[in-house]
Amino acid sequence: MARKFFVGGNFKMNGSRASIKKIVEDLNDADLPSDVEIVIAPPALYIHCAKELLKNPEVKVAAQNAFPKPSGAYTGEIAAPQIKDAGADWVILGHSERRTINKESDEFVAEKTAHALENGLGVILCIGELLEERDTGMTLVVCNRQLDAVIDKVKDWSNIVIAYEPVWAIGTGLAATPDDAQSTHAEIRQYLAEKLGEDQASKIRILYGGSVNGKNAKSFNACPDIDGYLVGGASLKPEFIDIIKSRE
Ligand code: G3P
Repeated sequence: MARKFFVGGNFKMNGSRASIKKIVEDLNDADLPSDVEIVIAPPALYIHCAKELLKNPEVKVAAQNAFPKPSGAYTGEIAAPQIKDAGADWVILGHSERRTINKESDEFVAEKTAHALENGLGVILCIGELLEERDTGMTLVVCNRQLDAVIDKVKDWSNIVIAYEPVWAIGTGLAATPDDAQSTHAEIRQYLAEKLGEDQASKIRILYGGSVNGKNAKSFNACPDIDGYLVGGASLKPEFIDIIKSRE
C-alpha cells in the first residue's frame, strides 16, 4: 500500500509574526516535492497569518490543540470550527507535552480527536512512551492503550495520521535508531490491523517524531512503516526543507 509521505512541523510555543513569516517565505521559495504532504503547526495566534502568507496550496496549516466543544464558556480554549475558520485543515492532538504538562488523559485526547474529525479537521494523533516505560518494556502497552481510547470512539481513521513520538527522544537530540523506530511502527500497524482491519491499517500514515533533523532524516528512508515525520525544533530552521526533501 503506497502511503503519501507526510512531514509536519510542530512549532510548539515558539515564533513571532516576523519569524513565522520568514519560515513561510522560505517554504514559498523552495522547490518542494509534490509527493510529500506538508503541514506546519504555528502557535494558534499565527494560524491565520501563516495561511494568508502561504503561496503553495499543497502546504497546509495545523493547530496544536482543539477543545472538544464547538463554542462556549471555555476561557482560553480554541474550537475546531474556529481553527477551520482561521484557515487550518489539521490539528495535533495528544502531544506528550499536553499529556504530561496539561494532564490530558487518553480519554480526553480521544474525545478531542472524535470532535475534531466531526468538525472536518484532520488529526495528527500523537502517541509514545516515557523513558521509564521504555526501560521497563512497556512501549507497546502504552502506545496500544493510547490507541485503544481513540479506537473506542473513532472507527473511520481515514483522516487520522499517527505520530509515534518516544518522549525520551523529544528535544533531546537523541532520535530513536531507524531499526528501533521501524520495529515499533510495525508493531503499531499490526495492532491497528487487529483492531481496525488490515485495509485501514495499511492506509494509516505513521510518522516518527523525536529529534528528527536535516542530518538524520534520510537514515529512516529504508523503514517501510515510517511514513514521515513530526518535527519540532528543526521545523523552525532552514533544515526543515531538507527534511521535507529527505526522500529525494
Ligand atoms: O511534535 C514533534 C516534537 O515533539 C518533536 O520535537 O524537537 O525532538 O523534533 P523535536
